[in-house]
Amino acid sequence: MRLDRFLSETTDLTRSLAKKALHREEVRVDGEVVKNPATQVDASRRVTWNGEPLALVGLRYVMLHKPEGVECSARRGLYPLVRELVDLPHVERLQTVGRLDVDTTGLVLLTDDGQWSHRVTSPKRRCGKVYRVTLAEPLEGEALEAAVTQFAEGLWLDGEEKPTRPAELSMREPRVAELTLFEGKYHQVKRMFAAIGHHVAALHREAIGPLSLGELAPGEWRELSEAERAQF
Ligand code: URA
Repeated sequence: MRLDRFLSETTDLTRSLAKKALHREEVRVDGEVVKNPATQVDASRRVTWNGEPLALVGLRYVMLHKPEGVECSARRGLYPLVRELVDLPHVERLQTVGRLDVDTTGLVLLTDDGQWSHRVTSPKRRCGKVYRVTLAEPLEGEALEAAVTQFAEGLWLDGEEKPTRPAELSMREPRVAELTLFEGKYHQVKRMFAAIGHHVAALHREAIGPLSLGELAPGEWRELSEAERAQF
């Protein structure tokens, strides 16, 4: 790869600032000052900037237990960002795989591998996302039977061009549902329950496909093993 690109991938420098750093003779390759941004380098070369060794970071795959009050967004708004909880180099390159609302807790995946992210979120792959849904009011009897059928057949949500894909609903307690979705529309769980006249009081994502939170406490994260990410 070109040296200016190597610098922009391993530091906070943009390509044009990297060229300036080269011009100021701040960069050495295998101990020699190099000024040409087109110089080809790879992982076998020792590249330093102002004496600091630089190393390319590979693709990262992270699972995190999102607490309330943290946002799955690329830019900082009112709330801290989920990726700010992750202590890895260049966290700004990590994107969340789908999103949870600020007040939703639970399993979030982050990666800088766009193709993997697409594999996890594409409805065609039928990767189930399991939610624990706490309702304001109990859902029981005939209303529950009707809801199970409606969710399984698909619901028309306001503003959508297609009905929701078949989803699986069961109750763990009269006010606590388990819902498995195979897609991810905006505020989908809350809108589906609103469509059948129920308010979601609390929402927690327990699993994405074969991955569940396990022992991870709110705010904790870990990198996925090779075997875990290969499951998608
Ligand atoms: N559906 C919602 O309504 N909110 C979430 O955070 C995730 C799914």
